Amino acid sequence: MNKDWMGKYSGSSSLGLRPSSTEQVSQILAYCSLRRLALVPQGGNTGLVGGSVPVFDEVVLNMSAMNKILSFDEVSGVLVCQAGCILQTLEEHVSQRGYIMPLDLGAKGSCHIGGNLSTNAGGLRLLRYGSLHGSVLGVEAVLPDGTVLDLLRQLRKDNTGYDLKQLFIGSEGTLGVITAVAIQCAPKPASVQLAFLSCPSFAAVQQVLRHAKQSLGEILSAVEFLDQESMAMATQYLPGVSNPLAQAGPDAAQQQQQGGGGEQGGPFYMVVETQGSHAGHDKEKLEGFLEAVMADGSVADGTLAESQAQAAAIWRVREGITESLVRRGAVYKYDLSMPTHKMYELVQLVRQQVAHLPGVKAVGYGHVGDGNLHLNVSSPSGYSDELEQLLEPFVYEWTAQQSGSISAEHGIGLMKAPVLGYSKSSEAVNLMQRLKVLMDPHQILNPYKVLPGVEHMGRVEMYDDR
Ligand code: FAD
Ligand code: MLT
Ligand code: ZN
Repeated sequence: MNKDWMGKYSGSSSLGLRPSSTEQVSQILAYCSLRRLALVPQGGNTGLVGGSVPVFDEVVLNMSAMNKILSFDEVSGVLVCQAGCILQTLEEHVSQRGYIMPLDLGAKGSCHIGGNLSTNAGGLRLLRYGSLHGSVLGVEAVLPDGTVLDLLRQLRKDNTGYDLKQLFIGSEGTLGVITAVAIQCAPKPASVQLAFLSCPSFAAVQQVLRHAKQSLGEILSAVEFLDQESMAMATQYLPGVSNPLAQAGPDAAQQQQQGGGGEQGGPFYMVVETQGSHAGHDKEKLEGFLEAVMADGSVADGTLAESQAQAAAIWRVREGITESLVRRGAVYKYDLSMPTHKMYELVQLVRQQVAHLPGVKAVGYGHVGDGNLHLNVSSPSGYSDELEQLLEPFVYEWTAQQSGSISAEHGIGLMKAPVLGYSKSSEAVNLMQRLKVLMDPHQILNPYKVLPGVEHMGRVEMYDDR
């Protein structure tokens, strides 16, 4: 409860509460508000920016007992559930009824839908199904003073003034506690095809992306990339994971043991997925696309998943990078949006920056189809000021120079609160602060997170509410 998923952030709370109803959440918040006690809402605790754990001794509000599915409409595809439902459980529930959740991510086995909304999680299929700001239809939230705000509508269209539910999506538990969610699910595709490709350069990755968008069009559902160094992490640190393009045989096995990721192409890999309604048609389109990108040299090698097991093995490589990095040691995670052609330049610059530090490795992967780079710097010997100073504020400054965002999908949390100004103007930060004061006048909800502030002995005095 006090430590985050990466083992990077920790607090010292001695009180965790586990409400099982909205009424209980309301009573807890009303009491804490009266007593000026700070709280941190905690979902599956898989967040990657230190937002879900206490900084000092804040009460931890664990949402895991609020895990009931309330309804599912098989005609509209609208799911209504409590905030503590695990994403994978929801996926299984709607899948049995012919639908899929509009988001998917590596942490699906433990993250909560409430945590997903609070971070506005993106994930692997944002390219196809869009952001939660679009697919969430309604929210029930409890305000810091205990007021229950019922915005749990199930309507696709509802233009009745300010869209208040949006305030709770992406605000990382600083404005209210989400207790229930209404979300639009997508029809389950009859056919899912998956290709794993290797490309000789990042320019080739971009060429493949362009081609995929043009020729796969409406069936394209994911375009991901990883570099050779990410492949090496996954194959070296995750048991049973191998390069899908590796040829069976002693050479390939040896290369993987050495963490080389194999020499079967690279140095870049891509995952391209389609979701459609006609397997024959989708396969034909994907094969045509593959022929074209191999003919123009942007793909050196590739394989199509022939079974669900093969598809799962491919996704395990891409989704497992996060876990492999944590297994290796400390990791500095940067989750950035920027023009696609700039993405890999930053990885190379950072690699040069840390080249003199033994064992330190910079890897690049991410949702290339959404212009979202995950730049991670792995340090087996732990976190250090020397390394951090080489990375920050350099990474944020460089990203801001490209008009990018310092948080594409993970949020701000504790990690990026002091550097929010790289992506938001002072006027925008000021308005965010005024909204915070309006909704949480005693600043009890998830203090120190998201907004830049001044800390005083465990209290926070961030906002001028004149
Ligand atoms: P937590 O980590 O518990 O909390 C996250 C934030 O939300 C905290 O600020 C917390 O206070 C707040 N919060 C939680 N529940 C509530 C609630 N009910 N009401 C109000 N506030 C609440 N993110 C992506 O965007 N895309 C990815 O592809 C992705 N992949 C990941 C893969 C792995 C292996 C891991 C470990 C993380 C990944 N993430 C990804 C990070 C992502 O933010 C989380 O996985 C997920 O969205 C957080 O959900 P959670 O329930 O674990 O929330
Ligand atoms: C991912 O895309 O794998 C997640 O956002 C987690 C990460 O950035 O490591
Ligand atoms: Zn991601």
